[in-house]
Amino acid sequence: MSGYAVSAVGLEKRYGEKRALDGFDLAVREGTVHGLLGPNGAGKTTAVRILSTLVKLDGGSARVAGLDVARQPREVRARIGLTGQYAAVDEVLTGRQNLEMFGRLFHLGGRRARLRAGELLEQFDLTDAADRGVGKYSGGMRRRLDLAASMILTPRVLFLDEPTTGLDPRGRGEVWDSVRALVTGGTTVLLTTQYLEEADKLASHITVIDQGRSIADDTPDGLKSTVGGDRIEVVVAERADIARAVKVVARVSDGEPESDETELRVHAPVTDRVAALTEVARTLQDEGVRVEDIGLRRPSLDDVFLRLTGHRTDVRNETNARNETNVPNETDETDETDVPNEKEAA
Ligand SMILES: Nc1ncnc2c1ncn2[C@@H]1O[C@H](COP(=O)(O)OP(=O)(O)OP(=O)(O)O)[C@@H](O)[C@H]1O
Ligand SMILES: [Mg+2]
Repeated sequence: MSGYAVSAVGLEKRYGEKRALDGFDLAVREGTVHGLLGPNGAGKTTAVRILSTLVKLDGGSARVAGLDVARQPREVRARIGLTGQYAAVDEVLTGRQNLEMFGRLFHLGGRRARLRAGELLEQFDLTDAADRGVGKYSGGMRRRLDLAASMILTPRVLFLDEPTTGLDPRGRGEVWDSVRALVTGGTTVLLTTQYLEEADKLASHITVIDQGRSIADDTPDGLKSTVGGDRIEVVVAERADIARAVKVVARVSDGEPESDETELRVHAPVTDRVAALTEVARTLQDEGVRVEDIGLRRPSLDDVFLRLTGHRTDVRNETNARNETNVPNETDETDETDVPNEKEAA
């Protein structure tokens, strides 16, 4: 396929009984950021590892930068960059030393490695911190250094596996800026994330993955319109007040409010966010309904899942399902062997 930097058809990967990928399809247009959105254990890292030739596929086929990952792994590797889910930089070295070391690993030679390190420090806004030990970097700075390290050879395709997980909003914003700059420079980015907001901010196209399969492929706007945009959410103190809260919320919402009897929660889609919030808060107070919590919520991955699958993410995957009494815990057999996945072990 021309015009596509990555294309995968029917990818399969099994780990024992576990089908980490189960007929996964993906098409990433050249020069874009493509989001791969899915909950824990959906198969995001497995897909990235196959596409970056780190693990072999069991079925299907994939091309990256025009090359077949199974037949031409070395050629693929020369054209890609990868930033893993967990930062790979050395804590003891400075930022500059890290980048120079990566440059030498890529056979750049001392002088070119130094030059390239300088350029990248500039590009990722790390010049001021360049000669400090990475142990003293903030999370956001560290991820930016990680991004810089994966850009030493200016790859055509860059795989970013959850580049902002665990960062505070500021660190996240910094990484987003860096990713945007990469794409302006002509690199195609496949970015995995658990945050709809992140995919929305960065990606021109999003593939949603669940249990090793693509369950949706759309633009961020298309996906959000499936989910229904912003929502107002009210938690009442007494179960008896749910019906009244539903009525009040219905007056300002764009669709039928939904309610959750166990969590005493009422929620509904709204367009004029602030007006809706003010109106609902005032009316509930006037009617003497005791409110535990009230707020506006942007759609999350969880909402996307609810719409697409009829389930929340937490009953669909084994990690969070450990807390569910009706889902058996069978994680022991499926634990990773080659790469520790901290989140699954946590
Ligand atoms: N090396 C491995 N050995 C055994 N099972 C594995 C291995 N790698 C992945 N799995 C299993 O395959 C499934 C998909 O895992 P993967 O790491 O691709 O998910 P993910 O979407 O990246 O999740 P997360 O958001 O937690 O990083 C999970 O059930 C996982 O436990
Ligand atoms: Mg992962």
